[in-house]
Amino acid sequence: MSISTISPHRGKLLVLLPGMGAVATTFIAGVEAVRRGMAKPIGSLTQMQTIRLGKRSENRNPLIRDFADLAPLDDLVFAGWDVFPDDAYDAAKRADVLDARDLEPLADFLHTIEPMPAAFEKTYAKRLDGANVKKAATKYDLAQMLRDDIRQKIDETGADRAVMVWCGSTEVYLRPAACHMTLEAFEQGMKDNDPAIAPSQLYAYAALMEGVPYANGAPNLSADFPALEQLALERNVPIAGKDFKTGQTLMKTILAPGFKTRMLGIQGWFSTNILGNRDGEVLDDPDNFRSKEVTKAGVLGTILQPELYPDLYQDLYHKVRINYYPPRGDAKEGWDNIDIFGWLGYPMQIKVDFLCRDSILAAPIVLDLALFLDLARRAGKQGIQEWLSFYFKSPHVEQGHIQEHDIFIQHFRLKNTLRVMAGEEPVTHLSENYEYEKYDH
Ligand SMILES: NC(=O)c1ccc[n+]([C@@H]2O[C@H](COP(=O)([O-])OP(=O)(O)OC[C@H]3O[C@@H](n4cnc5c(N)ncnc54)[C@H](O)[C@@H]3O)[C@@H](O)[C@H]2O)c1
Repeated sequence: MSISTISPHRGKLLVLLPGMGAVATTFIAGVEAVRRGMAKPIGSLTQMQTIRLGKRSENRNPLIRDFADLAPLDDLVFAGWDVFPDDAYDAAKRADVLDARDLEPLADFLHTIEPMPAAFEKTYAKRLDGANVKKAATKYDLAQMLRDDIRQKIDETGADRAVMVWCGSTEVYLRPAACHMTLEAFEQGMKDNDPAIAPSQLYAYAALMEGVPYANGAPNLSADFPALEQLALERNVPIAGKDFKTGQTLMKTILAPGFKTRMLGIQGWFSTNILGNRDGEVLDDPDNFRSKEVTKAGVLGTILQPELYPDLYQDLYHKVRINYYPPRGDAKEGWDNIDIFGWLGYPMQIKVDFLCRDSILAAPIVLDLALFLDLARRAGKQGIQEWLSFYFKSPHVEQGHIQEHDIFIQHFRLKNTLRVMAGEEPVTHLSENYEYEKYDH
């Protein structure tokens, strides 16, 4: 793939957001604040990170956004759906993530973004009860209505292209069923109102049918099954997922690779959280928590490789808890107690207390995913985008591939993919000016 095969960015890029809650509104408000020069896009690789090209001594370190022909922030337009009718300003106010001093100056802009009626069923998020929902006889009809919405919003905003990032609530835990195995079975399943088909899957289907790249920010089953993987390939559309990597799991995938590189053993890792936002309320239902538990629990195994290092990790006890605690709102607190051991097996403990802000960590991920998926689409990439694993707790990978959770490996892969997409050499560290070159005669 060379830069000449990437069709250049032009016009507007529409970012479609099913679920206009804390994350989505913090993202939209943040982009507008940056556009108005009121804030910096901190936490966003696409906006703030540089990429080294060639040898270090060449000193070529452009910003990723300048190097990769990403859509500039000024060219983003937004639309979304929600079960509640609040516009982006009211929803942001309710979510209580941003202070009034940051939100009020953006009120005029945020009021203009009103959610379209949602494709929603209470069975999949029992704690939610909103009136802004579509009515139709079948799930297939709902999906067609979502397709109409996408076309209409592209028209209305005059956008050249669109991307969709699911920022809706975590749905109940579902395993892939017979209806998820082929596109035909999935379409039939929607017509038969198969209970195994959740609303987020209808959005994903609608997006792919319209040629719109799709990312899943939640842990539930959404586009990660054969029928939609096949559709993504057929329609030449990139997909990525799932579950934004923020908070405690972010810390875990930063710390665990460090312990492993130093060959320190881990006996136990106990993680617990308190959070009080609407996400926490939805996750207070055991069926919805199950979706989250599965994506959170998987990360340590592939990083630590207990099968290769049984002395260090085979007995690791890993437990994750999420507790809904309304007084905290979006200001989550995550505790980790890590029981490690070193030389001759002597035990040590590490305590992490992360006073984090979930949506502040998630918003730049939405931005980066939107811009990178749009780039991937213009570069002719289709299907599962494993190079975007960096952003997810449970990366969506091809059948038979092993998920990579080590954030440093994920980061390395992301940047090398960008380099190769643009016709640059991938960085291997073998061409640097040190030991290797001494022997390179
Ligand atoms: N904040 C983070 O750090 C973080 C990290 C990882 C994953 N996530 C996931 O991102 C999602 C959004 O998080 P949030 O904090 O913004 O939650 P939120 O509750 O504030 O917002 C979710 C919104 O989705 C809406 N919704 C639910 N089902 C819908 C449907 N079928 N169609 C349209 N709208 C629907 C809800 O009404 C709600 O307004 C959650 O699934 C959460 O688990 C968040």
